[in-house]
Amino acid sequence: MNTFEKISLGLFPTPLYKLENMSRELGTNVWIKRDDMCGVMLGGNKVRKLEYLLMDAKKKGYELVMTTGQAQSNHAMLTAACALKCGMECVLVLKKRGITELKGNQILNHLMGVEVEFVDSDSYDDVYKRMDEIAAQKGKEVYKIPCGGSTGLGSLGYIDCMKEIAQSGIEFSHIVVPCGSGGTSAGSTLGARIFMPDTRVISVAVDTDPFEKIVGGIMEETGELLGADVDIPEIDLELMAGPGYSIPSKEGIEAISLMMRLEGIVLDTCYTGKAFAGLVKRARKGCFGPDDNVLFVHTGGAAGLFAPDWEKI
Ligand SMILES: Cc1ncc(COP(=O)(O)O)c(C=O)c1O
Repeated sequence: MNTFEKISLGLFPTPLYKLENMSRELGTNVWIKRDDMCGVMLGGNKVRKLEYLLMDAKKKGYELVMTTGQAQSNHAMLTAACALKCGMECVLVLKKRGITELKGNQILNHLMGVEVEFVDSDSYDDVYKRMDEIAAQKGKEVYKIPCGGSTGLGSLGYIDCMKEIAQSGIEFSHIVVPCGSGGTSAGSTLGARIFMPDTRVISVAVDTDPFEKIVGGIMEETGELLGADVDIPEIDLELMAGPGYSIPSKEGIEAISLMMRLEGIVLDTCYTGKAFAGLVKRARKGCFGPDDNVLFVHTGGAAGLFAPDWEKI
């Protein structure tokens, strides 16, 4: 397989351990991979992707990085943190959607002193056009990272994560990951196929986008980069979007409370709460046996928990 250079940004391998209380509650062996503890800001899945993406930017000579997402994007916040850590300039050109006030991730962006600009449009074409205008004003070339860093290159980060999990020597029957823009799901599904062919990856969708197609496309790209002789697997998708992307769901909030009460671990309302709710749903339906080892990949996002007005939820 081809290998790619990356910048070391996080503390890897992240911790992996069994959740004893949760295992008793759900009647199967529940494990957790703490990518939320990877050592940059409040951690999260984007750090693994950014190790590849920012190396690519550096190698190509860029000094200015821009990315996008909604107002509370964890990806955008982590891109800023990682770019600054690498000595690069970063501008976040975010869609004026979601919670734009100084709450959650916006507090972290503010404290880092990163330039944030909102574009009042649902179209990413408008966002990318604005990026070009800002870059032209600065007189610099810009390295644009798409929403979620979900490209073939970014997804190599989750190929690495699956390799790390395989190296633990524990045989997992299932690995559960959140799916928002698709890169984590793509890297995990393909990586598991390569390093743990008997393990089934369940991607829990937090949005209603056509993920079979999106994740399939990213897997193709990642597979081509790797030059690996591996079939592109189908994804096992569980839809847990609830009332909609980034809107807290009843099942998600129940899963967050359960994880806090039993294990003292913080999940978020947008991604990991809904993803863990997907694991709980399948466990309660009897999809996992008492001897199965089911691994939940905690992809971070804690700051988002402090963005909504909880008195209205
Ligand atoms: C905390 C968190 N978990 C999961 C995801 C979903 O990952 P992906 O965008 O790779 O599908 C995101 C995406 O932004 C995220 O911020």
